[in-house]
Amino acid sequence: MVNRGPHNSSNHLGARLRPRTLPIGIFVIYTVSFIIISFSVFLYYLRNISGDEPQPLVSVESRSGQVPTLQVRDDQLWDPPFSHGLHPCAKPTAKYKGAQGFGRYLSVKSNGGLNQMRTGIADMVAVAHMMNATLVIPQLDKRSFWKDSSVFSDIFDELHFIESLKGDVRIVKELPKNLETVPRARKHFTLWSGVAYYEEMKRLWNDYQVIHVAKSDSRLANNDLPLDIQRLRCRALYQALRFSPPIETLGKRLVERLRSRGGRYIALHLRYEKDMLSFTGCTYGLTDAESEELRIMRESTNHWKVKNINATEQRTGGFCPLTPKEVGIFLLALGFPTSTQIYIAAGEIYGGNTHLSELSARFPDLIFKESLATPEELKAFSSHASQTAALDYIISVESDVFVPSHSGNMARAVEGHRRFLGHRKTINPDRKGLVEIFDKMETGELVEGPSLSNLVQRTHKSRQGAPRKRHGSLPGVKGRARFRTEESFYENPYPECICGSRRKRVIT
Ligand SMILES: *[C@@H]1O[C@H](CO)[C@@H](O)[C@H](O)[C@H]1NC(C)=O
Ligand SMILES: *[C@@H]1O[C@H](CO)[C@@H](O)[C@H](O)[C@H]1NC(C)=O
Repeated sequence: MVNRGPHNSSNHLGARLRPRTLPIGIFVIYTVSFIIISFSVFLYYLRNISGDEPQPLVSVESRSGQVPTLQVRDDQLWDPPFSHGLHPCAKPTAKYKGAQGFGRYLSVKSNGGLNQMRTGIADMVAVAHMMNATLVIPQLDKRSFWKDSSVFSDIFDELHFIESLKGDVRIVKELPKNLETVPRARKHFTLWSGVAYYEEMKRLWNDYQVIHVAKSDSRLANNDLPLDIQRLRCRALYQALRFSPPIETLGKRLVERLRSRGGRYIALHLRYEKDMLSFTGCTYGLTDAESEELRIMRESTNHWKVKNINATEQRTGGFCPLTPKEVGIFLLALGFPTSTQIYIAAGEIYGGNTHLSELSARFPDLIFKESLATPEELKAFSSHASQTAALDYIISVESDVFVPSHSGNMARAVEGHRRFLGHRKTINPDRKGLVEIFDKMETGELVEGPSLSNLVQRTHKSRQGAPRKRHGSLPGVKGRARFRTEESFYENPYPECICGSRRKRVIT
């Protein structure tokens, strides 16, 4: 019987054709075979194109000594999340006007590390606009933990900053000589203030020609500001505050070097640095001597107000940076192959190799700026923490995947910038959830392998930088405290500075 096949359709086809002659029978064999083969090819094709969801294939890495994990397809690991045709939009609306600001000056002392200063300066551009003032190039913080003597033009392209914001605010390098000695209004602007507050502050112009702002961090609200003010913040941060030519040049060169030595790379902001561990009181996995050293540092740092910290509670609350070992387990569980190039975007790792070795045991290809750049290239940057931080910033923004081990100013700024540029992939560890997992590993309830991998992948599916609007404050938080719980504007400038295609035609 020529027409008995594994397929129902072939039976049906055969029954209809049975009375015919032999050559027809051969024809049927060919037809049926053709249909079966086509269908198989179709099924195969379908399996390969279907689904944007990560579909871990349960295959186990077999190289000796390595932990088996769920393998994830290459594109699922590295490709940016789908961004629905969204694009940056920082241009002003039709009704926008620049501020003149003649004769009134805002002088600013920015505070904090590099990224806190950058966002603060972008805010001060917006404040100068709202207060109709001329902005004097801000002074940088020389006394922070980072103790960097750099001035504005060492870190930023000063001329570009002034020129590119010409239509928005007037910016001058210095106060005019005749105003250097006049009395100034010295202000600590209220944290997270809106337009009404700065309108009110304009009355200071009745008595003063110069307002000196003593701190620049978080002086502007995240939300409920006019669209044009929000976009001005984006223009200031993403376009005007370009790094100085030596930093930009070396940063780009180092990115090229990473690409040519290994193609794709993860930039890991491994915030396992002494100041962070001391500040957060996170001593998990450290020796008693190390814990004591961190405690003494916290005790003696005046501007850190909280001195008594329960390290266990900090950790279970998800407030600690992941340790190098934890990062290794995390990235491996996500499915990154052990050969992945990982650029360490950080200063000195606390405890050096003792702690780092637990990460390099899993991912041997760790790259530090010291191994990527020549000593001559780095010479100009040494003892300038803000300038090396700027290099890390550039390399992080340009990376295929950015992973911050802790939330902080750098992590937030890089994530926001990557969202702005086209929702580049940022994997945000759910530290609270991960600590539960790590604790289960400690008791032996979980081991590294496919089931751990599955759990980690599942809980991080929606933490990879896909487009979403900025979160508001946490429910139930009242009064000014709610500002602290809001997602920062610079962490996610969507919707104001990221638009869909319809608004693109109308506005930008
Ligand atoms: C800004 O200040 C200038 C003087 O410096 C004044 O002529 C102008 O009307 C002011 N603009 C606004 C919007 O207040
Ligand atoms: C820290 O907190 C944990 C959990 O709340 C508690 O068991 C432990 O006793 C605390 N440690 C100290 C030193 O207070």
